[in-house]
Amino acid sequence: MSDALVKAAIAAARNAYAPYSNFHVGAALLLDNGDIVTGSNFENASYGMTLCAETVAIAKANSDGQLKQIVAIAVAGGPNGKVAAGADAITPCGRCRQVIKEVADLTTRDIPVYCAHADGYDTHLLSDLLPHGFGPANLK
Ligand code: THU
Repeated sequence: MSDALVKAAIAAARNAYAPYSNFHVGAALLLDNGDIVTGSNFENASYGMTLCAETVAIAKANSDGQLKQIVAIAVAGGPNGKVAAGADAITPCGRCRQVIKEVADLTTRDIPVYCAHADGYDTHLLSDLLPHGFGPANLK
């Protein structure tokens, strides 16, 4: 299943709107019913307004009432539209890690994040990507 998820993330990166960075990213969420929800980065002429692929995918799932169904995430990307061309996998940016933490805390699942690279993918748990993070429990 994780192979299919990584493939979906690679495919989603083809829909990236990234004319400013030319760095195309795709994300794919696995839901508990086996469905896959994808997202790609969406840049803006006002650079700071850029939406990352992971955040787009998670917001998409949320707006379809599927936030609590997310069990895993794959991310794939690379410069000049050559997804996973490099040796190193890309991992979610800091802001995306925080967004994924909301899902992890809500679902009480330590979400695995599959990060694609030229030879496959690396698997990281959200708790490894964002140790000692701030979450909903801190507001109580
Ligand atoms: N990007 C993502 O979509 N996800 C990440 O986790 C890292 C960065 C995008 C944002 C921007 O459009 C481009 O990659 C270069 O930073």
